[in-house]
Amino acid sequence: MLANAFPVGLLLIAPFNPALLAQDSCVKNGFYGNYRDGDTMYSVITTPWDHDCTYSLKPHLPQVVEFLPLPEEGSQLVWLEEDVIEDGLREMNELSGTLDQFLDSFTMHWAKQSQYNTPSQQAVLGASSAHHGTHHSISRLPLEVWEQRPYTVHYQSPSAALVSISADKAQTIDTLLPAYWKSTLLPREPISYQPVPSASVNHVREVLHNLKFNPDIASVVNNISIAQMKNDIRFLTGEDGKSGIVSRHSFSTGARTAAKWLKERFEDTGATCELKPFLTGFTPNVVCRYPAIIETNATVLLSAHYDSRGSFGSTRAPGGDDDGSGTTGILSIARTIARKGVKFHSNVELVAFAGEEQGLLGSKAYARELRAAGANITLMIQADMLAYRAPGEPLQLGLPDLIGTPEATQLVGNVSGIYVPELHVGFTPACCSDHQSFHEQGFPATQVFERAGPIADPMYHNSGDLSDREGYDFEQLLAIAKVQFATLLHTAGFELPSK
Ligand SMILES: *[C@@H]1O[C@H](CO)[C@@H](O)[C@H](O)[C@H]1NC(C)=O
Ligand SMILES: *[C@@H]1O[C@H](CO)[C@@H](O)[C@H](O)[C@H]1NC(C)=O
Ligand SMILES: *[C@@H]1O[C@H](CO)[C@@H](O)[C@H](O)[C@H]1NC(C)=O
Ligand SMILES: *[C@@H]1O[C@H](CO)[C@@H](O)[C@H](O)[C@H]1NC(C)=O
Ligand SMILES: [Zn+2]
Repeated sequence: MLANAFPVGLLLIAPFNPALLAQDSCVKNGFYGNYRDGDTMYSVITTPWDHDCTYSLKPHLPQVVEFLPLPEEGSQLVWLEEDVIEDGLREMNELSGTLDQFLDSFTMHWAKQSQYNTPSQQAVLGASSAHHGTHHSISRLPLEVWEQRPYTVHYQSPSAALVSISADKAQTIDTLLPAYWKSTLLPREPISYQPVPSASVNHVREVLHNLKFNPDIASVVNNISIAQMKNDIRFLTGEDGKSGIVSRHSFSTGARTAAKWLKERFEDTGATCELKPFLTGFTPNVVCRYPAIIETNATVLLSAHYDSRGSFGSTRAPGGDDDGSGTTGILSIARTIARKGVKFHSNVELVAFAGEEQGLLGSKAYARELRAAGANITLMIQADMLAYRAPGEPLQLGLPDLIGTPEATQLVGNVSGIYVPELHVGFTPACCSDHQSFHEQGFPATQVFERAGPIADPMYHNSGDLSDREGYDFEQLLAIAKVQFATLLHTAGFELPSK
């Protein structure tokens, strides 16, 4: 598919630089997205095979940069990235691993699945298991197996890689990754790069400029019910013993149960909801809307992702924190909107995305749809992982260090200081949730997270991610939901029923 865009061309992986993608750039139509490796964002770009073009890019590139051959036609590019996690977490998890270990086990997995295996090849596979632990610099696999590896590596560092594999293998690659690695499927076609226009941030700037304590907002956000949240999360994780949800992985039946339930619960609060499919096989996005009571096209959007991921090899994925917490947070906001009879001066959307764990796929589809429709999104705030608090740490709110609109991030931080002063606010490298999809389509967007630092939840991407466990703190979930809600009320404008 990539090859269609430029019949002859090259692949470029370069530190993100808006100048590379400016309107007059020869590669502006070859953008495949930004991806993180440690502290750096990289852009994946295809370039035409044209000396003038590559020469014109030089001022915007680092000293040394490689132009690589394009992947084979029909293959799927996948960005693999190690999560930024707290020291010590990796050692605690026997399922954590390095990229080389993963690539080996991925090769083994597909070699074992292959119907063309001969008995002698099977013998080699069996024998190679015994080799685990011995260290070869390239691969610990026997040469015959390694030669059948189903991927091509285009870029590799200790904490990230860009590989291409066949489309069918790409679909389930996330279920084979070691703990603390995640995968993003690159789009099949180039996407347009849309920096957030300064004018689109004007509304947030104005709200920030006029920000001061509003007692009505305090009384509304203080009405969020922690008892209701404790109840709601147990449906989503299956801990209630009634929902039947074992997993909310995007392809699971549990995710479909959750989607239907979320739609109904949001509708109970007066919202109009739609299940919006975005890719075959994936559970849909749940998009709920409260129309403005005045004539306007401005829309404020709060979101979370309801799909989940479990431990390697396990079909159990309760996703209590990731991202049952953010999902429960926006549902608690909806329930409070109904209880308090809040009406908005701006359209408000509450959205539960799917396909986040496969690379923000649900939110990318929706953000592109909104961009194509010329939507006026004045602010988008994604909540992803709100409930885990490490022993001895204060209540915290983590804001994104790299991805997001700075004014939007500052607004959330300032609102927190005003309404929820007990939260310690700081920045987090925990990266790349659904707000990135909106930010890349030119909408002001930011994120709220549970920690002013890297991920510390030992049950992250683990089948033990339940709500009833040590460190899962409803007080912190409540505190961050209040911040998200208060920011919505300030940004959208609202009315309460007259007493
Ligand atoms: C929320 O407000 C309603 C009515 O305004 C009240 O009945 C209810 O007890 C409040 N709940 C909480 C958790 O404050
Ligand atoms: C979006 O809505 C805001 C707030 O009502 C308004 O000021 C702005 O002009 C609108 N922008 C566009 C592009 O329609
Ligand atoms: C939104 O409303 C603003 C102001 O009312 C108007 O200027 C703008 O064209 C509208 N935008 C769209 C996409 O309809
Ligand atoms: C708002 O945020 C800015 C930047 O983080 C900070 O300098 C300022 O003190 C904050 N203001 C309030 C009122 O919290
Ligand atoms: Zn998440």
